[in-house]
Amino acid sequence: MTNWIQRWNEGEIGWHREVPNSKLIEFIDHLQLKATDTVFVPLCGKSVDMLYLLEQGYQVIGVELSTIAVEQFFSENSIPFEVFQEPDFVVYQSDKLRIYCGDYFKLNAKHLASVVAVYDRAALIALPTGLRVKYAQHLYAIIAKGCRVLLLTLNYPQSQISGPPFAVNQEEVLSLYENGFECQLLQCFNDLENEPKFQRENVDFIEKATYCLRKY
Ligand SMILES: C[S@@+](CC[C@H](N)C(=O)[O-])C[C@H]1O[C@@H](n2cnc3c(N)ncnc32)[C@H](O)[C@@H]1O
Repeated sequence: MTNWIQRWNEGEIGWHREVPNSKLIEFIDHLQLKATDTVFVPLCGKSVDMLYLLEQGYQVIGVELSTIAVEQFFSENSIPFEVFQEPDFVVYQSDKLRIYCGDYFKLNAKHLASVVAVYDRAALIALPTGLRVKYAQHLYAIIAKGCRVLLLTLNYPQSQISGPPFAVNQEEVLSLYENGFECQLLQCFNDLENEPKFQRENVDFIEKATYCLRKY
């Protein structure tokens, strides 16, 4: 089991990127957002994708286990914030952003009452098999009907290299979300040429997929 707190303590955050994810930019229209809508970013780390969403005028709610991640997000992006304690969470609040510092599985529908869309990059695929089922069921439980989800996944031969990120193929995405979500595959391609770590390990392929889900 990944010790995320230790990863943050030791700065082992190889998943973090300094620029917004190109698939968020390419496919954000599928979320059908209106100005000032609220987007939920589960397992948000200190992702600059949240900054991108804020810059587009949206409000953002994140959840993240690590205090280091949350505090680095605010300080590295020079965003003033207030902190307060709630049951189960330390809440970091700025003008248009709220990050719940604590466990995703403790969030409930009231925390996300304003949310109309979800952006999942490196959240589902950060979790091992059994937890992925729990993660998807919990997402269904805490978001409103009609909510759209932009989901980014990776798929590669899991026997050739271990996760996280874990391999999650199309069949698994469909089975995780078949009850309660419409599921549309927007794009899927092999991107081995841009993944030197996977090349070094002689992995046969690494597929990157983008889905748009809608809770019904
Ligand atoms: C692979 S990172 C991805 C972070 C972010 N989505 C990004 O794209 O940079 C996964 C993050 O999930 C956080 N995390 C793992 N389990 C969690 C949980 N149960 N509740 C909240 N955050 C969690 C970890 O601390 C880590 O920052």
